Amino acid sequence: MSCRLPVLGLVLLWMQGAGASDPDLPFMEYLDENHLVCLKWGFNDDLEEITFTFVVNTTGWIGFGLSPNGNMFDADIVIGAVTPSGNHFTDRHGIGKVMPVIDEEQNCILHSMGESDGQTWMKFSRKFLTCDKHDYHIKAGPEKLIYAYGLNDMIGYHQTRRGTKTINLLNYKPQMDVPDSTSITVRVDNLAIPAIDTYYHCKITKLPYLEKKHHVYKIEAVIDNYDIVHHILLYKCPKFVTVGSDQPCFTGDDGDYCLEVMAAWAVGGMYDAGILTTGIQPFGLIEYNIPQGAQNFHSYGVCNTSLFPDLIENVPVLNVIGVMLHTHLAGRKVRVGHFGDKDQLLAVNENYDFEVQESVLLGEHKKIKPGDDIVVECTYNTEDRKNVTRMGFSTSDEMCLAFLLYYPAIEVTSCLSKPNVTHLSKSFS
Ligand SMILES: *[C@@H]1O[C@H](CO)[C@@H](O)[C@H](O)[C@H]1NC(C)=O
Ligand SMILES: *[C@@H]1O[C@H](CO)[C@@H](O)[C@H](O)[C@H]1NC(C)=O
Ligand SMILES: *[C@@H]1O[C@H](CO)[C@@H](O)[C@H](O)[C@H]1NC(C)=O
Ligand SMILES: *[C@@H]1O[C@H](CO)[C@@H](O)[C@H](O)[C@H]1NC(C)=O
Repeated sequence: MSCRLPVLGLVLLWMQGAGASDPDLPFMEYLDENHLVCLKWGFNDDLEEITFTFVVNTTGWIGFGLSPNGNMFDADIVIGAVTPSGNHFTDRHGIGKVMPVIDEEQNCILHSMGESDGQTWMKFSRKFLTCDKHDYHIKAGPEKLIYAYGLNDMIGYHQTRRGTKTINLLNYKPQMDVPDSTSITVRVDNLAIPAIDTYYHCKITKLPYLEKKHHVYKIEAVIDNYDIVHHILLYKCPKFVTVGSDQPCFTGDDGDYCLEVMAAWAVGGMYDAGILTTGIQPFGLIEYNIPQGAQNFHSYGVCNTSLFPDLIENVPVLNVIGVMLHTHLAGRKVRVGHFGDKDQLLAVNENYDFEVQESVLLGEHKKIKPGDDIVVECTYNTEDRKNVTRMGFSTSDEMCLAFLLYYPAIEVTSCLSKPNVTHLSKSFS
């Protein structure tokens, strides 16, 4: 028998610091060791469009590209120069260690470029996939980025002013250490896991008292037994919890569940970030059955944000920066829709895999206003099941959740709904 601690993956997110002043371009990396060459970027999954601002500490020409191999051959390159006679910006491709050739089709749209304080920059966007055979197809996965620049505007040989760096543009996970940071370790010790399919353990413990407010910037799991740990969730306790404990969490299908408040996260050193759980309430849904033998069964959870008075009074907009999607074994696809002034997909995973659950940072900060609705759609496949599947905590039950990482934090931690079972029981009884 396989014993698992089921449910949710660990939320591990680090928010970009001071460099991320443009919410459309939330990500930033230096491409060189000397921090002279800087790339900021963001993207829109719906439009399949990516936007870059490329900044170099030079008053000469600057070049940036995506390369299949890390060098200029077959690379998709843009070169720009701000000269006394005007701005030059061209979409090119590399053919070897010679001047990149100008593309017949110019698929990069220049938004702005300029020169100030000894820096030259250009902001441009393009589709992930263009129709030009010389353009690179940008996909989620590590991309080899190349750069070069000159000391004057005569585009020519870059000598040593060149380099390459691998970055996953569409699934970016910045790694950073914050100076003067400290860590706290919480462990569950000497726990005998019972021989049942799904076991949840809850430990409530007091953390060291901190004199002033601190921000969590990173969380790592300390796991000794990878074969039995399925996921770990970390919560801040509400004020009425005053005693510690170390015991099983759920005593049955409708047993106790904790009232939970997520710990505060930091974004850009200015805001507290929070996690809002949306989707279908995972407990107390005895009558809701996902039928067996279904190829694509859809379940929907709706969050109506006008139900948060706090949001309306104090926080006019929630900025969503990351999402973690969660179902159990029958989940095949999850979509999170946002319905407001403009309807948009907040997040989607068309090939959901229970074994690979991770938080993803959105390519742009998406804004939710009071009154907007968030709809989580989960698609299940139960073709291999002999019986109905219920919503619940066991791995063989199902869930339909989307954890939204957003700022500024509000007190509300979850916004879940129940399907209308009165209506459904007619169809499936
Ligand atoms: C690059 O230029 C900016 C703006 O002038 C400056 O603040 C920064 O210190 C420079 N970076 C380096 C590494 O010289
Ligand atoms: C959301 O709640 C508001 C206020 O209760 C209500 O007027 C509105 O119809 C609700 N929207 C949906 C989609 O249920
Ligand atoms: C099928 O599921 C229902 C509801 O959970 C349960 O009452 C019933 O015993 C199950 N049947 C079988 C054959 O497992
Ligand atoms: C649930 O569905 C039934 C039957 O369609 C309907 O009469 C009832 O108003 C619905 N309840 C809610 C809360 O929407």
